[in-house]
Amino acid sequence: MKSPYKILFVCLGNICRSPAAEIVCRAAMKDAGMEEQVLVDSCGTASYHVGSRPDSRMLAALKRAGYEYDGHRARQLRGRDAQEYDLIIPQDRENERDVLTTLVGAEKKVVPMNRWFPEGERANEVPDPYYGGAEGFDEVVRLLKRSMPQLVAEVAKRLSE
Ligand code: 4NP
Repeated sequence: MKSPYKILFVCLGNICRSPAAEIVCRAAMKDAGMEEQVLVDSCGTASYHVGSRPDSRMLAALKRAGYEYDGHRARQLRGRDAQEYDLIIPQDRENERDVLTTLVGAEKKVVPMNRWFPEGERANEVPDPYYGGAEGFDEVVRLLKRSMPQLVAEVAKRLSE
């Protein structure tokens, strides 16, 4: 597999879940010694927040979990992402539907986030924390963090093929 392997996390606004996934994933790849081989990015299906920093409540949750904001600004999903990325990871069902509508022909690259959830996890998507309290943001970070071993293992396997 060519390197870098390029991963794109997708949510609705690109200010809560997908920038968190990007930050948590980049840290996990670094811990696995794979940061040179893997490029991690994120975007949103909607345009409302283009150019914005992540939501301050998400930045606070990331900080509580020991992660640093890395300067990300929101952008919207675009057609050429289908060619530019190797693995495209929508956070919930609605994001998945919207990604598949926008990126026609990229179905094989699109794998929902819940595919990487640990065994026994009851949630079947990454819940949208936007209209809830701080604990919802902590829950998103926890779920993302617990998904990383499975994602890191799959990317390591694909890089070795
Ligand atoms: P995200 O969360 O998709 O995880 O970034 C949301 C961000 C913004 C809105 C909804 C969800 N919004 O309605 O503006």
